[in-house]
Amino acid sequence: MALGLSSANGSRRPSPLRPGASFARENPVTPMDDEVHPVIHSGRVAVITGAGSGIGRAAAVELAKIGLKIAIADVNEQGLSETAAEVSKIVGEANVISVPTDVSKLDEVERLRDKVYEAWGEVGILMNNAAIAPKGTSWEGIDNWRKVFDVNLFGVLNVQHTFVPNMLHQENPSVIINTGSKQGITNPPGNPAYNATKAAVKSLTESLAHELRETPASNLTAHLLIPGWTFTGMTGASAGKEKPAGAWSAQETVLYMLDKVRQGQFYILCPDNETRREVDQLRIMWGAGDVAEGRPALSRWHKDYKALFEEYIRDGLAQLD
Ligand SMILES: NC(=O)c1ccc[n+]([C@@H]2O[C@H](COP(=O)([O-])OP(=O)(O)OC[C@H]3O[C@@H](n4cnc5c(N)ncnc54)[C@H](O)[C@@H]3O)[C@@H](O)[C@H]2O)c1
Repeated sequence: MALGLSSANGSRRPSPLRPGASFARENPVTPMDDEVHPVIHSGRVAVITGAGSGIGRAAAVELAKIGLKIAIADVNEQGLSETAAEVSKIVGEANVISVPTDVSKLDEVERLRDKVYEAWGEVGILMNNAAIAPKGTSWEGIDNWRKVFDVNLFGVLNVQHTFVPNMLHQENPSVIINTGSKQGITNPPGNPAYNATKAAVKSLTESLAHELRETPASNLTAHLLIPGWTFTGMTGASAGKEKPAGAWSAQETVLYMLDKVRQGQFYILCPDNETRREVDQLRIMWGAGDVAEGRPALSRWHKDYKALFEEYIRDGLAQLD
């Protein structure tokens, strides 16, 4: 059965991303402001891993501006204390807990949880955000593969397993946001270990969302943050370096994320200044089509499919515009 992506002989069929198709547009939602949202709300508690820089730091700052109490964790102690200082200026030192934490170590994550619950007795927002992205290939650097999985996959699991049992039994609603990546969905060449961990984070967060939905009286929802190209340490940001025009700032990504959490969205697929949402939608559909249509792996980057892929994107966008 063809899905309308391409036929067996390689000729094009109409794109399934027609205007009006339900997945072509974001779900209509009623925005909620900070006065009424029960979680993104002054006085609640946010716990953010990987808060020593980038998206994690921006999340700490933006949530502090809304008046949440902020617990931050990072393996980089210097970055962590810089974030703590910035956030303290906004909410006051008494409302900041800063805990040097390596998320790949379960005992350190448990220590973080204990400190937060001893101080504040609850968690409203848990941002499971720490990650690393060292380059490698598919058949070299097994130690690198282990390290990336320890941080990006087992780090996320350590945090999830440590906090979720407590958050489930809280009286007030709460959210867990795991940070995935488009690379965990479309799997571009160049960083296979990172991509594999992010594919795993997508899978485990989907399962978490389902399990929470099926748990009676659960007051906890899960969300998958899928940042676009965001100018952070991971993508080459450093002091004095200007943000490339195509990238979003970490603040832009965080503000977009908060809007989508307010709207109750599970998949928080962020655009950037280079890639609009519709292009991401088409790329994701093409990737799924590799499996469904039996094309070669990663056909988007296969020379025999280059022209077909480009035509698919052109047609898809023309039909949507
Ligand atoms: N920047 C992008 O374009 C982009 C795109 C897609 C996904 N992401 C994801 O967004 C998240 C945040 O990344 P970022 O872009 O802000 O990068 P970043 O490097 O600025 O931030 C990552 C933070 O995680 C910390 N960290 C690394 N290993 C850790 C460990 N073992 N324990 C605790 N903390 C650890 C780092 O010290 C750093 O402060 C990551 O999950 C990343 O994979 C980023």
